[in-house]
Amino acid sequence: MRSPVPDLLDAVLEECRDAGDDGELAGSIPELADADPERFALALCTVDGTRYAVGDAEHRFTIQSISKPFVYALALADRGYDEVLDHVGVEPSGDAFNEISLEDNGRPRNPMINIGAITTHALAGPRGATAEQSTARVLEGLSTFAGRELEVDEAVEASERETADRNLALAYLVRARGKLQDEPHDAVDGYIRQCSALVDVRDLAVMAMTLGAGGRNPVTGEQVVPAWVCRQVLSVMATCGMYDAAGDWMTTVGIPAKSGVSGGVLGALPGQVGIGAFSPRLDRFGNSVRGSRAFERLSTEMGLHLM
Ligand code: DON
Repeated sequence: MRSPVPDLLDAVLEECRDAGDDGELAGSIPELADADPERFALALCTVDGTRYAVGDAEHRFTIQSISKPFVYALALADRGYDEVLDHVGVEPSGDAFNEISLEDNGRPRNPMINIGAITTHALAGPRGATAEQSTARVLEGLSTFAGRELEVDEAVEASERETADRNLALAYLVRARGKLQDEPHDAVDGYIRQCSALVDVRDLAVMAMTLGAGGRNPVTGEQVVPAWVCRQVLSVMATCGMYDAAGDWMTTVGIPAKSGVSGGVLGALPGQVGIGAFSPRLDRFGNSVRGSRAFERLSTEMGLHLM
């Protein structure tokens, strides 16, 4: 018998395509403003590695902030819980993703916002790693999560480098508080390269399922990070992954998730499914409009809400 999943994905895609043409393309990175706003894709990966995808599933886009939970996972695996927690907190910021969200002790509030993600990038790789080694570790680690070697979109990377003043300012503030282990320029350069890795929705679904399967990539079988790391990462995604919309997201969708400014959304339901969505128009929180609607519909239709 044919699985009902492809038909459901098709139905959700059509329904949400009609509903979701509000929202705006990302304004913060000039190159992203050229994206085709009509693109829309959905993918799902089950815990046994079966993958389904519909819409513009072949289209690749830069991963942007969706890289953040995975780099947090790599830092935890490489440096251990105590060292990472000494540098980056786990509390929702209640502010936008590019705000100066620091705790009194100088730690960024969490690794899902820019200030925390730049700090986390510098914690990837073994203690004493150079900035270059951390960035190499990040790209290799993201690729292992996806189960294939990811390339970098050099045009988007260059475009973000030209408009990096705010991220540089954030990095300097953390450095001044003693929480950033690399030079601010090096950390921001590496972080921008991390955000420019190219993925499609299938990659997102596999990456999500890897987190939801205790760190074991369900397609390649590789143990990417230990299971305790995934519990930590999914918990922080649940409270901080959708920025200011995290509470609304958890009540309506009920799946730990992470969005990115190019229009991707990734969600992981532990032990069950990983989901990837892509559509470039964003709401005022920086989350994909159609992607969010599609998650809501899939959660309802498939009974995925955690509660
Ligand atoms: O640092 C930035 O602003 C971007 N590279 C990533 C921001 C992002 O994806 C926010 N998510 N919605």
